[in-house]
Amino acid sequence: DTGIVVAVDGTSGSGKSSTCRAVASRLGLRYLDTGAMYRAMTWWILEQGIDVHEASTVAARSGEPQIVSGTDPSGPTIHVDGRDVGVEIRSDRVTGAVSPVSTVPEVRARLVDLQRAEIAAGLQGAGIVVEGRDIGSVVAPEAPVKLYLTADPAARAARRAAEEGGSDVAATEQSLRSRDAIDSGRAVSPLTMAEGAVHLDTTSYTLEEVVDQVVALVEAQE
Ligand code: C5P
Repeated sequence: DTGIVVAVDGTSGSGKSSTCRAVASRLGLRYLDTGAMYRAMTWWILEQGIDVHEASTVAARSGEPQIVSGTDPSGPTIHVDGRDVGVEIRSDRVTGAVSPVSTVPEVRARLVDLQRAEIAAGLQGAGIVVEGRDIGSVVAPEAPVKLYLTADPAARAARRAAEEGGSDVAATEQSLRSRDAIDSGRAVSPLTMAEGAVHLDTTSYTLEEVVDQVVALVEAQE
C-alpha cells in the first residue's frame, strides 16, 4: 500500500469537515468523518430509548448497531443497520447527546476498530483524509501528515449558525464551547494536539486559503 493518511483533529466548528472534504477531493483521496460515526452511534442509542448518561448501558449495547461509512469526499454517507441517517445525525438532539456517548470507552474501542479498517482500505488506493478528535493521537498516530485545526469560538459559532440557516449565534457558541469542554476533559482519548501535528488557526482565513495550506503540506510529504 502506497497511500497516505492525513489525520485532522480540532475543535467543533473549526472548519474541519469542509476543509477535509475539499482536500480529499483535490488530491483524489477518500474521506472519513469519524464525528459522523459517533453521531450515528448516539442516534441509535437515543432510538433505543437508552439514557445517554447511563454509561454502563451505553457500553453494554454499543456493539449492536451496524455502522457503515461511505468515504467518497463528494458525497460522504453514513448508515446504521442499512438506514441512511445523514440528516438525523445533525439534529440538535444528537448534537446535544454525542459528547457523553463519546466518553464511553467501549464506544470508542468499537468505532476506532471500524475507523482503522477504513484507513486500511484507503491505503489500498491513494490514501485517506480522516477527521475527528483523536486521529493523530490514537487512531492513526503513524500518519505522516497531522493537523490540528482551531478557530476563535465566536468565529466558529457565526460560521456554524450560518451553515445551519441562521440559527441563534449565542446558543451555537454555547453549544460549541460545551462540547469542546467535554471533548477536551474526558479521560479516554481527549481532544489534544497530537505529537508532530501542525497547528492551523483558521479564524482569519477563508476555506480556500486553509485548503491550499493543507494541500501544500500533503504534497510536501509525497
Ligand atoms: O466532528 P463532530 O462535531 O461531528 O463530532 C461530534 C462529536 O463526536 C464530538 O463533539 C466528540 O464528542 C465526538 N468525537 C470524538 N472523537 C472523534 C470524533 C468525534 O469523540 N474522533
